[in-house]
Amino acid sequence: MILPIYLYGQPILRKKTKDISPDYPDLKILLDNMFETMYKADGVGLAAPQIGREDRILVIDLSPYAKDDPSFMGYKKVFINARIIERDGEEANVEEGCLSVPGIHENVPRKNRIRIQYLDENLHPRDEVYEGFRARVIQHEYDHLEGIVFVDHLLGIRKQMIRSKLNKIIKGEVNCSYKVKAVSKK
Ligand code: NI
Repeated sequence: MILPIYLYGQPILRKKTKDISPDYPDLKILLDNMFETMYKADGVGLAAPQIGREDRILVIDLSPYAKDDPSFMGYKKVFINARIIERDGEEANVEEGCLSVPGIHENVPRKNRIRIQYLDENLHPRDEVYEGFRARVIQHEYDHLEGIVFVDHLLGIRKQMIRSKLNKIIKGEVNCSYKVKAVSKK
């Protein structure tokens, strides 16, 4: 089922998510819905708060970037109850966008390497290191689990320049090809 994506300004995007319990009802359905919603919106990552849930879950599928790197084809992953426990390596500034912040693309500084502990879709514990683009996408989605949106990383002047666009998103004045849920509709 395709779900509406919550837009910037929605309080759920500012909440710190909670771990799910092993007996979480209909986990498979939730994960399927997250992927379906993400694909419909042409995203490569989605976090549960973006569909209005406080669950500590994020999903990614880097297949759309397979033209840049063939190893991204079918690179589909689920991260449940995730915790990034280390970030290191070089810091790079790379342009990002977000399904919850349509129409805004800005460079965001992030570390090149992370170590993350999580449960996979079968609730098996994992402890892995990711680098480069994988680490970037995971960090972007992980931010959502902590109530952080990528524009929060922008410094004063850049932030001021997008302020009016953000205000439009808050008012629901967006042009999206996918279903959204804004704070207020005009
Ligand atoms: Ni995002």
